[in-house]
Amino acid sequence: MTVFSELIKSRTSANNYDSVRKLASDEITQLIALATHAPSAFNFQNWKFVAVHSDAAKARLLPLAFNQPKVTDAAVTFIVCGTLEPHLALPATLKPSLDAGIIDEPTYKGWIGAANSMYQENATLQRDEAVRSAAMAAMTLMLAAQSHGLVSCPMIGFDQAGVAAEFGLHATDVPVMLVTVGYAAKANWPQKPRKAVAEVLSFA
Ligand SMILES: Cc1cc2nc3c(=O)[nH]c(=O)nc-3n(C[C@H](O)[C@H](O)[C@H](O)COP(=O)(O)O)c2cc1C
Repeated sequence: MTVFSELIKSRTSANNYDSVRKLASDEITQLIALATHAPSAFNFQNWKFVAVHSDAAKARLLPLAFNQPKVTDAAVTFIVCGTLEPHLALPATLKPSLDAGIIDEPTYKGWIGAANSMYQENATLQRDEAVRSAAMAAMTLMLAAQSHGLVSCPMIGFDQAGVAAEFGLHATDVPVMLVTVGYAAKANWPQKPRKAVAEVLSFA
């Protein structure tokens, strides 16, 4: 088994964190730098992250996360957001790929045209894309944390509107998931068994 396979198999959704061990701001930054290597449609990178790590900010988040203790015990809880209207930022977002010669001018213009026609009048697709991109980034973040000797937990148990208001999110920032990250305390469950592959895989 490769190191990466082991990493995938050893990741768990942690319940118990060592509340004493913190993460420095540069460690938090490194985790997000890795998370941003996740793919996104048209390379939109339509995600934002709020790292809730100070005691004061954790105290504000706790009641909005239904008082799940891991929000205060974990070193950091990320509010992982997907952003709406991704097509508006695409000319600037895609420019570095053009400048680096990865895509050519017709592709650059073609992608911008395609994104405009797909997303500008389609609020449902914008929201779907926000959720897809944030989920991709969240998973990458959790694997990055695991590779750094940390544990994590994705959480949908929170008040989305309350979090958006309390943390001053922009109207186009959708708080898709909370992800707690920190050092494990004892007595965390192992990864739970998964369905048999034959149950979920079909070949066409
Ligand atoms: C979208 C999503 C939302 C979740 N929300 C919560 C949550 O609010 N609180 C929590 O303790 N665990 C939450 N979990 C963790 C799941 O319960 C966990 O991933 C599942 O039981 C499998 O556990 P394992 O990954 O450790 O095997 C969530 C997981 C996902 C993917």
